Amino acid sequence: MGVLPTGEKKVFLSKLEEISRKALERPEEFWDEHARVLEWFKQWDKVLDDKDKPSYRWFVGGKINASYNALDRHVKTWRKNKVALIWEGEDGSVKKYTFRDLYVEVNRVAQLLKNFGVGKGDRIALYLPMIPELPIFMLAAARIGAIHTVVFSGFSSDALAKRINDAKAKLLITADGGFRRGKIIPLKEIADKALESTFSVENVIVVKRTGSNVNMVEGRDFWFHELIDGIPRNTYVEPEKLDANHPLFILYTSGTTGTPKGVYHSTGGYLVWVYWTLKWAFDPKDDDIWWCTADIGWITGHSYIVYGPLLHGLTSLMYEGAPDYPAPDRWWSIVEKHGVTILYTAPTAIRMFMRYGRKWVEMHDLSSLRLLGTVGEPINPEAWNWYFEVVGKKRCPIIDTWWQTETGGFMIAPAAGIALPPLKPGSATFPLPGVDADVVDEEGRPVEPNTRGYLVIKKPWPGMLLGVWGDQKRYIDTYWSRYPGWYYPGDYAMKDEEGYFWILGRADEVLKVAAHRIGTMEIESALVSHPAVAEAAVVGKPDPVKGEVPLAFVVLREGYEPSRELEEELIETVAENIGPIAKPAGIVFVGKLPKTRSGKIMRRVLKAIVRGEPVGDISTIEDRAALEEIMGVFKS
Ligand code: WT7
Repeated sequence: MGVLPTGEKKVFLSKLEEISRKALERPEEFWDEHARVLEWFKQWDKVLDDKDKPSYRWFVGGKINASYNALDRHVKTWRKNKVALIWEGEDGSVKKYTFRDLYVEVNRVAQLLKNFGVGKGDRIALYLPMIPELPIFMLAAARIGAIHTVVFSGFSSDALAKRINDAKAKLLITADGGFRRGKIIPLKEIADKALESTFSVENVIVVKRTGSNVNMVEGRDFWFHELIDGIPRNTYVEPEKLDANHPLFILYTSGTTGTPKGVYHSTGGYLVWVYWTLKWAFDPKDDDIWWCTADIGWITGHSYIVYGPLLHGLTSLMYEGAPDYPAPDRWWSIVEKHGVTILYTAPTAIRMFMRYGRKWVEMHDLSSLRLLGTVGEPINPEAWNWYFEVVGKKRCPIIDTWWQTETGGFMIAPAAGIALPPLKPGSATFPLPGVDADVVDEEGRPVEPNTRGYLVIKKPWPGMLLGVWGDQKRYIDTYWSRYPGWYYPGDYAMKDEEGYFWILGRADEVLKVAAHRIGTMEIESALVSHPAVAEAAVVGKPDPVKGEVPLAFVVLREGYEPSRELEEELIETVAENIGPIAKPAGIVFVGKLPKTRSGKIMRRVLKAIVRGEPVGDISTIEDRAALEEIMGVFKS
């Protein structure tokens, strides 16, 4: 049974089907027409070049600039004085930037980057809290063709160093600190530690946010406010006319190996994709106040706080701090204060607010809201219903968007901008135009309705990643080898008898912890880096708020004994290697891990035990005693 709207289902679907058919049957014609909504310096010669597939290239020969399309294009119109960015600090202070203001700041910062010798193709790393300087530096980099790699400010110094080294970033932008629940996170100190093991960074620019005392290395580190003071407000930096396939950014994400992948995106195809997906899914209007609650350190923030909304000339809201600080009504006070019309968030946040209770929501007038969005993990029907009833007062459709870092933008989502289908709690409904999604079995055959299979995308789309930075083999192996010719996202899914898609969670060794993507292998390599650990296996344990949390099984080396202190120490090791978000919820010390006779850890079996599910076929197990030991622990 569908919720909202209540009409004939056929009417909604026929519109979507008509556009989708065009997009899939004649993609070159379709995208040739749709890409024109942006301003190109030179038109493409070819819409889709597939001669090097799966390294597909879109809009080949076209020249474009992201900063120009996000800012200059609007500054030439009445939007010049429209608010582009509303920023609210954790302390309640508010800053507003019109398109003109952003344009001025981005031009100045672009000049500043040039003064540091940064140019087209150079990589710059941004390790910043949620402050306006973050999108400003991104757009400034894009203006001169430098490739930004934003590192989430919750990552540790080791994680930052790994990313800087992989991208060979020559400049690092950080801050003296960031605020989280009133406390200061010493970003510069963490960055300094990272810089001890990097070789590419020549200079560091430090934004003053907290006023903390930091160590500045003479000749290497510079205060942003001192530098920017010397750059006049009328500075104009000509936007680089970049090839459509010039990389706009690299963003590291977790996979099934110990090292994160540098997913990198194009300029042209990516911008076209974020523009159209935002239009189709949310149909934003000029009087909307758009609030995506993600951190810009993730793809959601790149595509739907920065690039997508600005391309549309929307007012995008950015909030610095924790969702429940200083009280559990913080978000709702923001919605009321700024008149937010579209709220886009993750199920984990909704579940957290459910726990606090509806009174915190009901303290505020949320009548400005017209659409609600969700992303990052499957949404359970209880959370969906609560979001729909308590936050949206049964007036606001819920736009459940399935996508990934790699896809650039939404892939499966209710197309409110075309014709909203009746919604079903927990289903992202149908693929957007140009997305050829299906659910198949191990052999690639479509599965029967209501049967779990693997999600696949059978055709390239403009927002797709260009590759894995420095490792094109990994790109092909990870995404295009399981089903040759098709893109494999790594998710389980099913379709119901009406063709609705239901995403059922990861099919690989990747966890979604509070919607954050974390590889179990990354946590395992962090654990075995500790001298006490001989072997480790990490699995996801269901959690009522976070969706799942990592649980680690650890075999100790000779001479080490399990203890509460050691458990703490191992958890801390993970925080140091990756960041607090990857901390295991617990460590289970075992004598042996269940393995196959060929020596592979049977994670599937561990996962089943943790979830209290049947362990299934264990005929290949090498030693049953290992299994019985663990089953014993979980029975009690
Ligand atoms: C993975 C991608 C791209 C947005 C932020 C996450 C899961 C994402 C949904 C959804 C069910 C979802 C998938 C996907 N996921 N959105 N609406 N319903 N699952 O990006 O960190 O690259 O993670 O998040 O498992 O593969 P990401």
